[in-house]
Amino acid sequence: MNILFIGDIFGSAGRRIVREHIGHVREAHNVDLTIANVENAAGGFGVTPAIAEEIFALGADVLTTGNHVWDKKELIDYLNSVPPQSAERPRRVLRPANFPLGSPGYGVYEGVTASGVDYAVIQLQGRVFMTPIDDPFRTADSFFASIRAKVIVVDFHAEATSEKAAMGWYLDGRVTAVLGTHTHVPTADERILPGGTAYQTDVGMSGPYDSIIGVEKDLVLHKFLTAMPGKFEAAKGNPKMCAALVACDPATGRATAIQRIALGE
Ligand SMILES: [Fe+2]
Ligand SMILES: [Fe+2]
Repeated sequence: MNILFIGDIFGSAGRRIVREHIGHVREAHNVDLTIANVENAAGGFGVTPAIAEEIFALGADVLTTGNHVWDKKELIDYLNSVPPQSAERPRRVLRPANFPLGSPGYGVYEGVTASGVDYAVIQLQGRVFMTPIDDPFRTADSFFASIRAKVIVVDFHAEATSEKAAMGWYLDGRVTAVLGTHTHVPTADERILPGGTAYQTDVGMSGPYDSIIGVEKDLVLHKFLTAMPGKFEAAKGNPKMCAALVACDPATGRATAIQRIALGE
């Protein structure tokens, strides 16, 4: 079974490059399950219902987000528009599971692929150099008693490499993959951990690389040079789709291979 995980889609340039490549990558690698992080898909800040629908229409099965999830407030009504048991698209947009109790939406989705394999996607967010929220490690533990699927993919949306590596080792042997998002730079450490979990510290952004992590360079430089507030705008230049391809045994959920991909224009 093959899983395609697309890193943070950033702005219109990110959506365009994903539109260009997602189809042929899914076909060439016989992808059974496609997951995309969309926390920056709407101009760099959050995701709207219309953009979520657009990315589902390209072939994504589950969308994950992160710290930018509430940037577009219309997303809240979209997430709330279906009951928890639903398999409709709004239920397949996740926010980090360790957000405070009572947050809108869900951090876990359990589904079935077209070929009949049960899977689960869990999203967690780190706490190092980020807004402190509930413990992502204990939150992960809390799901394993109830999830039936063997194939489990974790999007760990975190800033610190150490916290991400810790999560990889913590969940090794319990999930199919721990894939990092949020820092927007792909790391060259993809591997299969000894327990059979595919790991990559950060899958990288699917967006404009002539930028400072997605944002127009001049605007970020101005902020660093003057410490003045300013409006950030999504850059456009040099877009790449960064993703991880994970192969696994659907019977056990153990990963057998992980490959990093970066596709430009
Ligand atoms: Fe991001
Ligand atoms: Fe983020």
